[in-house]
Formats: sequence, structure tokens, C-alpha cells
Amino acid sequence: MPADFEAMWRDLAPVGRSSSSGGYFRQPFTAPERELDAWFAEQCAARGLEVERDRFGNTVAWWRPPGAAGPAVLTGSHLDSVLDGGAYDGPLGVVSALAAVDVLRDRGVTPSRPIGVGVFVEEEGSRFGLACLGSRLATGATDWATARALTDRAGVAVEDALADVARGEADLLRDVGCFVELHVEQGRDLVDRDVAVGAASGIWPHGRYRFAFTGEANHAGTTRMEDRRDPMLTYATTVLAAGERARRAGQRATFGRLDVRPNGTNAVPSAVTAWFDARAETAEQLDALLADVERQAQERAGRDGTGLTVTPESVSGAVHFDAELTSRIAGPHGWPVIPTMAGHDAGVLSAAGIPTAMLFVRNPTGVSHSPDEHAETVDCLAGVAALADTLAELAA
Ligand code: GLV
Ligand code: MN
Ligand code: MN
Repeated sequence: MPADFEAMWRDLAPVGRSSSSGGYFRQPFTAPERELDAWFAEQCAARGLEVERDRFGNTVAWWRPPGAAGPAVLTGSHLDSVLDGGAYDGPLGVVSALAAVDVLRDRGVTPSRPIGVGVFVEEEGSRFGLACLGSRLATGATDWATARALTDRAGVAVEDALADVARGEADLLRDVGCFVELHVEQGRDLVDRDVAVGAASGIWPHGRYRFAFTGEANHAGTTRMEDRRDPMLTYATTVLAAGERARRAGQRATFGRLDVRPNGTNAVPSAVTAWFDARAETAEQLDALLADVERQAQERAGRDGTGLTVTPESVSGAVHFDAELTSRIAGPHGWPVIPTMAGHDAGVLSAAGIPTAMLFVRNPTGVSHSPDEHAETVDCLAGVAALADTLAELAA
């Protein structure tokens, strides 16, 4: 018998969890993430769902009752996490999708269209740097030549990481008529509105840019301050300028990852590489934010005698989810429709022309990409019921 939501959630709780922080390390194609992949395949087998995989290991499990035909209704999300992430970002959408299939079967619903439960790999881009790499490959937004050129922090190439991964040749999206991704909310909008479930209007454009600052390694004691070419100084002033610029404009600017060479306490560094995550309401505003931060960084580099090159690594355009689909889903229930600043596979499928919507489940802390991310069980169950209602409506 398929397990219920809470039993499935308990299955996943220990997988990839850090004993020190309580957060999750479920990077693509590592042991914890593969354990989740195997768990998903077992859950699908227990439900008699037919599993298909593509060349990247993205998976869709199909419920095709006899007679079901026409464009399929796809749901699902991802099982990978950011470094030291929360339990909910991704897995909530996958577990809720399986639970929603169970709810529909318990209700005696027989869909007239196939229903798919999808798992897209490397949604977070935590390993290879390109956000939503799995859904980008599945839609063709990114081609294999681009993916092949990516390496992780240890220099492992995508194709080497894929060596032992269960894969196939399926074009997973060929018959998909619409996609609905359920996700934990990553802010406090639903808390403030005092509702458990909402829908998404769209996603802010956002990007990740590699800032490579270079200077001259030298002795921390004998090098006078005025003789230094210190990339750390240029980097530090860039962080302050970016924070100030984004705060003034109501935008987002984050430097969350840093690589310092040689990383010694008593040496001026020779190089500082920093990754800038920028987000704004429109593409024009995002371009202007990046341009301002880069200009200020270049000016400062000129004064510091350091160098700077900026390379975009992952850029995602604005997404406006299908308004008709969203109002069909949310309207009858009065679910609020709210924007998000977070990226999702739903954004990639939407950009590929698949009518797409998202459901959010309230997060009492509003915290995400952190061990403190949370959703109460009662709200998760409300999310499952909402998704079941949505699938019943769309697959009728
Ligand atoms: C993904 O969750 C992102 O918004 O970076
Ligand atoms: Mn995320
Ligand atoms: Mn996510």
C-alpha cells in the first residue's frame, strides 16, 4: 500500500541531513540525492506508475488509467537541495504530488487525461552552477554542448557525474498539456494573509554572475597598505555597493559564495572570485542593477590596482505564469495569487510555452535555502488537498 504524506515525509527526513546544522546536502548525483531518486522509483512502483527517464536522469512517473488520452497534466518538483538547505524546497512538491495521486484514487477519481509526477534534476544549480539545469535540458532551453562544458567545484564534468545514474531516452514533455508545481513558500506573504495555500503570478528575472577579482599576492606584514594590490578590498567594497544599490531600489543583491587564493591568513590574496546573485522586477531593472554594480566594482578596481572580469553563469528571464490556468485553479478557492523572487522548474517550462501554474504552501518562518525552512503538517496536507483538487479539475 502506498504510504500517506506523513509516512513519506518521515522516509525522507534523514536523507542527506547534516548532524551539525540539521540542514540538507542533496547535491545532484551524490549519494543522498540518488537515495531520494531510488525512493521515488520505489514509491512509483508501489503505485503502479510507469517511470520514464531522459538522458539527464529527469524522471516522470505516469498514471495512465485505461482510456486516459489527450495532453497530459504534469505535476512534481525537484529532490536536490542547496548546500545546507531546508527539507521542503523541492521535496514538498514531489511528495505532495504522490500523495495527491493517492487522494484522487481514494476519492475514486479516474482522470481522463494522463497525470505525470515529475522530478527535475539539479534545480538549484548547486553543483554545476546553472539553475534548473534538468528542466532546461528537458525543454531544450539549454543544449547538451553547453551542459557538457560545465564542471562542479571539484572539476567533475556533467557526463562523468552521470556515469552511474539511471537514465533513458524519453522526451518527457512531448505530451504535456500543462504543468502545476507545488512548492513551499519562500517568504511570508501567505503568513501575512493568514492562508495556507496560494498560487503564483510570476517569477522575477534573476541571474548569477561570476566576479573574478585579481591582484598581487604579498606579505601581510611587510607590504605597506599603499603598496598593495588587494582584490579582497575591491571585493569588499563591491559587496557594500551592491547591497546599498539593491536596498535603495527594492531589489535583491547577494554575494553568497567566495573563493580566495591562496586563502592564507598572513598573505594578501592574489585572487578573489565571488558569485553575485541579482534579482529585480523587470529585465531592464536587472540589467541596470548588474551594470551599476559592475561599474562601481571596475572603478574601485582602478583605484586598487586590481583587475576584474564579470561572467554571467545562469540568467533566467521574467516569468508570467498562465493567467487563465492560474485563475481556473485558484479562483474557485479564493487562493491569493502572489509573485515570487525565487526560480523554479515551473519558470523554465512556462518559458518553453507549456501553460504552467504554481501552488505555494505557507512557511511560518518565511525562511528558505536554510535549515530553518518550515511548513506545518496541517498546511502540507492542505497543499496536498489543493493539488488533488487541481489535478482532478485539469485532468477531468
Ligand atoms: C532557486 O531556488 C533560486 O531561486 O535560486
Ligand atoms: Mn530553491
Ligand atoms: Mn525549489
